[in-house]
Parts: sequence; structure tokens; C-alpha cells
Amino acid sequence: MLKLLLIVMSLAVLQTAVAKDLRTVTEPKIPAACTSLTGTGKEETSVIQKALSSCAKGKAVRLASGTFISGPLTIPSGVGLWVDSEATLKASTNPKDYDTGKNLCGALDDTGLNCNPFIIIKDAKGSGIYGKGTIDGQGGHIMTGKNESWWQLAQDALVKDNHQNCPRLIEIVDSEDITLYQITLKDAPKFHVGSATTNGFTAWGVTITAPGTARNTDGIDPIDSRNITIAHCHISTGDDNVAIKAIVKPVSHISILNNVFGTGHGMSIGGGAYSGVTDMTVTSLILDGTTNGLRIKSDKSRGGLVNGVSYTNVCMRNVQNPILLDTHYTTDPGNLTPVYKNISFNNITVLTPGKFTFDGISEAYPVEVTLNNVHIKKGSTWVVSNAKIKGKYSEDASGTHC
Ligand SMILES: *[C@@H]1O[C@H](CO)[C@@H](O)[C@H](O)[C@H]1NC(C)=O
Ligand SMILES: *[C@@H]1O[C@H](CO)[C@@H](O)[C@H](O)[C@H]1NC(C)=O
Ligand SMILES: *[C@@H]1O[C@H](CO)[C@@H](O)[C@H](O)[C@H]1NC(C)=O
Ligand SMILES: *[C@@H]1O[C@H](CO)[C@@H](O)[C@H](O)[C@H]1NC(C)=O
Repeated sequence: MLKLLLIVMSLAVLQTAVAKDLRTVTEPKIPAACTSLTGTGKEETSVIQKALSSCAKGKAVRLASGTFISGPLTIPSGVGLWVDSEATLKASTNPKDYDTGKNLCGALDDTGLNCNPFIIIKDAKGSGIYGKGTIDGQGGHIMTGKNESWWQLAQDALVKDNHQNCPRLIEIVDSEDITLYQITLKDAPKFHVGSATTNGFTAWGVTITAPGTARNTDGIDPIDSRNITIAHCHISTGDDNVAIKAIVKPVSHISILNNVFGTGHGMSIGGGAYSGVTDMTVTSLILDGTTNGLRIKSDKSRGGLVNGVSYTNVCMRNVQNPILLDTHYTTDPGNLTPVYKNISFNNITVLTPGKFTFDGISEAYPVEVTLNNVHIKKGSTWVVSNAKIKGKYSEDASGTHC
């Protein structure tokens, strides 16, 4: 009896010790509907926007069934958008709908900043997107009035070494306590979800899918944000599955719990840690077929301090770079030193051979890492330069599935 009690108690302690998000985060609930709409398969931007704008705080506009096509939508403070299991909300393929005024959305330029996002949540508190339905960014569809898709435009940008103007699917800006729950997001023209300078953001049970070849279709990018929980999500994309970025504000208190990543560029911090990333945990993650696994990417042009990141109970398969701590992400000049310290890897299993890189910027600023229970496959390569590594790994990983 006592033994059982002790086990239960230690499990409870473990549960609370796991989270770094300072909020107490539990499974979200879908708010009650303020109104219910049925999709006609036609363009319905103003119908949906009117419903959102007149919805009472604490309630949600329910898209009950059918297909809705829409241009940009704003979710007001305190209001939810509920896409129910029978409903699909499709982003318009017309670049003019998203244009910020220069007629460059859907074209290339040297900024890539000329489209508004499909869904924006700005200066809001307690807003969210809920339900078992789908929001489809239609990134692979030919743009209205153009000869190619958003994703083909992104490829053109790569070839021509400039930037594509494509809308993000969901953008959260200067907000507080924002929730994404259960929703399926697919085929974003650019990032699926970005949060900027937001305190309190939860993505729970969210599915994100885009082809591995769809450029810059990041899954979830918390930027300059604090108190973040990403839990029970399935994310397969053509770029970072999750990327934490600290550009103008420090990022802290991040919990990435119980997720599964398919194709994509992995669980990333960066590019860029200018303002610092601290207090972050990645616990119970499966990476299956990502190019990178656990990655921190920065360099002298965008360096900063990354301190206090732990990766626990991670299993990987078919990942080229299972661990990649990189301080030479680009060769851009600068004098911002990337410093990675207090980074721990606990109970990590990698079932297929890969390259493990611990690359510090200089002898004075080594990457400081602790390894605990790290099992890798024979035939892997281990590249260490300017790094202090405590603990050992063993080449004894076995099994074929995570
Ligand atoms: C994070 O959330 C906690 C708990 O709600 C709050 O006290 C704290 O101010 C938040 N942190 C930041 C940096 O906003
Ligand atoms: C579409 O037109 C642009 C500009 O004329 C061109 O660069 C691009 O390759 C074309 N794309 C396709 C898929 O034909
Ligand atoms: C290491 O990181 C943890 C947070 O993950 C923090 O509590 C601790 O103070 C850090 N240790 C040092 C020496 O910075
Ligand atoms: C180690 O991680 C695996 C997932 O990769 C998990 O199934 C297992 O329970 C973990 N072991 C411990 C002792 O936490």
C-alpha cells in the first residue's frame, strides 16, 4: 500500500516537474456556439466575419458542416472559431484577397512581407480555434490569375534567391491565452501557425499536414512568446515541425509534450536566438522521417543564449541528423555569440544511424550538454567541436518502431 502510494506520489511529482509553461494547462474545452453556419461551397468571407465580429465573448462561431471558402478572417478577443468535424474551411486562392497594398502578394520580392495571413488573432485574450474539422490553406492549388501555386512560387524564390509573398495560415500577435484544439490544419501557403509576442498559447490535439516538399510550411512557430504548451499534436510539414524563435523578445517557459512528428525539418530552436531561449522541455516526442531531430540553429549574425533546455523520452527513426547543435547555421557576418548551455538529453533512442553534431562557436563558448541514457545505432557519426559533453551514449539501440 505504502509502496503504491509512493509510486503514485512520485508520478504526480513527475507530471508537474515535466511542464515548463508556468500556467496550469489542461485539455481545452470547446466553447458554446453563438451561432451555427452551413457551408455552401462558395466564397463566404463576409458571412463568417460578421458572425465572428458579433459573437459574444466566451462563445464560438460554429461552422457545422459543408465547405466554406474565405479570404482573410479576424478572430476577435475572447471569441472562438469552431470548425466541426463535418466542415472544411478553405483559404481563398486569390492573392488579391491577402494583399497588403503593394500588389505583391502572390509574387516575389526581397521582403516576402506583402500578404496578410488567412486567420489573424491580434491584441486578443482567450480567443481560439477549435473542432475536429479542417482548415485547408490550398497551398498546392494554382493561384487565381497566376500560372502556379503558392508552393511553386516558393520554389521560384529559392531559385531566384529572393522571397515569396505567400500568406501564413494562422497568425497570433500580441495576445494572451490563445488556444488551438483538435483542429486539422493542412497545406498552408507558408507557415501553418505563428505566434508573435504572445503570453500563453496552447496547441492541443492539433494535426498539421503538408507535403515534405512544400517549402516554408513550418508547423508551429512560437516567436518572441512565453508560456507555451504544444501537446498531443501530429505534425508533418515541408519545414520545421516546430521552431522556437527569439528575435526581439526573450522566449521562455515552453512545454512540448507527447507529440508525433512525421516529415519536416524537426524540433528546432532558431534560426535565431538573439534575445535568448530559456526553460524549455521537450518530453515524449516521436520523430519519424524528419530530416533533423533535436536541433538548435544559430550563428554570429543571430546568436544569443540558449539555456535550460531538456529533451526527455524521445524516440527517432529515419532521421538524418538526430541531434544537431549548430552555431554555423549561416555564414552571415555579425558579433552575436551563440551560446548553448545546460542542454540535457535524457532517455533518447535513435533506431537508425544518423549524424550527431555538437558544434560550439569557440573554445571560450563551448556547447554544454549532458547525456543521460542515450541509445543510438551502430554506424552513426558523432561530430564534436568546442563542446563539453557530460555523460555517455551507447550504440545499442534496437527495434524497428518507436
Ligand atoms: C507566464 O504565466 C505565469 C502564470 O500565469 C505568469 O505569472 C507569468 O507572468 C507569465 N510569464 C510571462 C513572462 O509573461
Ligand atoms: C509562371 O510564370 C513565372 C513568371 O513568368 C515564371 O517564372 C514561372 O516559372 C512560371 N511557373 C510555371 C509553373 O510555369
Ligand atoms: C539549467 O536549466 C534549468 C531549467 O531547465 C534551470 O532551472 C537551471 O537554473 C539552469 N542551470 C544553470 C546552471 O543555469
Ligand atoms: C524512455 O522513452 C521511451 C520513449 O522513447 C518511453 O517509452 C519509456 O517509457 C522511457 N523510459 C523511461 C524510464 O521513462
